Amino acid sequence: MNNLFSDTTIKKLATAKRIGVLTGAGISAESGIPTFRGQDGLWQQLKPEELASVDGFMKNPRLVWQWYEYRREIIQHVKPNTGHFILADMEKCYPVFSLSTQNVDGLHFRAGSKNVLELHGNILVNRCHTCNKYIADVHFQNGSTPPRCDCGGLIRPGVVWFGETLPEEVLERSFTLACEADVYLSIGTSAQVYPAAMLPREAQQHGAYIIEINPERTPLSTAVDEFIPGKSGEVLPVLWNLVKPFVKV
Ligand code: OAD
Repeated sequence: MNNLFSDTTIKKLATAKRIGVLTGAGISAESGIPTFRGQDGLWQQLKPEELASVDGFMKNPRLVWQWYEYRREIIQHVKPNTGHFILADMEKCYPVFSLSTQNVDGLHFRAGSKNVLELHGNILVNRCHTCNKYIADVHFQNGSTPPRCDCGGLIRPGVVWFGETLPEEVLERSFTLACEADVYLSIGTSAQVYPAAMLPREAQQHGAYIIEINPERTPLSTAVDEFIPGKSGEVLPVLWNLVKPFVKV
């Protein structure tokens, strides 16, 4: 017995064969990367339509580049935190473990997770907005002219912006795995941005037990089987410590 999690949650995690996870900016908050919404979120002071949309990029590519370079700088200087590491350890213990993330920071990979589905792309890669080619070694210095591809198109960060479609294969795989999951965890996401926010709901409709970990309640919280209030870097190690001894690898 413990007073943090229900016995059902422990039992479900201990006996599950297929685990699905959706993560959002909150799992990287304890690494020092700001989230988007909420009191200190980036979208309190900045406008998503100017910085994270095709229209914004076309109007002012230099501003968008400056913003992404600022975020890349933060990401390159931070490390994965306990939450990322616990998910990487969990992956080793279940026959099927899929991790869909809305984060573009690559920290799940750096923590050792293998089966990561990056729904919103990756901030560390670049591609041409016109011909779609991926381009290594792009140089942009604060204030310089935004880089261009051989084809003449503007080079952009390899992320998904508002109004754009998500990478088809990644999205399809995320939905398939959500539908097959015995247990689905929604961690550190405000569950407001679609289609990612559909994943836990879809998993639930297909019979999965849903656990949410977040210091604050979200639009998903009333629907989940267990809402665990708290930071992922604090909740996950305690939960996994209780569950891991019962998981048959
Ligand atoms: P949000 O900023 O919307 O939500 C972050 C969530 O993390 C909030 O619900 C916080 O309460 C929670 N949180 C904060 N600290 C936490 C911690 N230590 N542990 C666990 N949870 C914590 O971020 P996302 O839901 O990821 O898209 O946002 C989804 C998308 O909207 C992003 O991928 C981005 C954004 O605009 C694009 O840029 C296209």
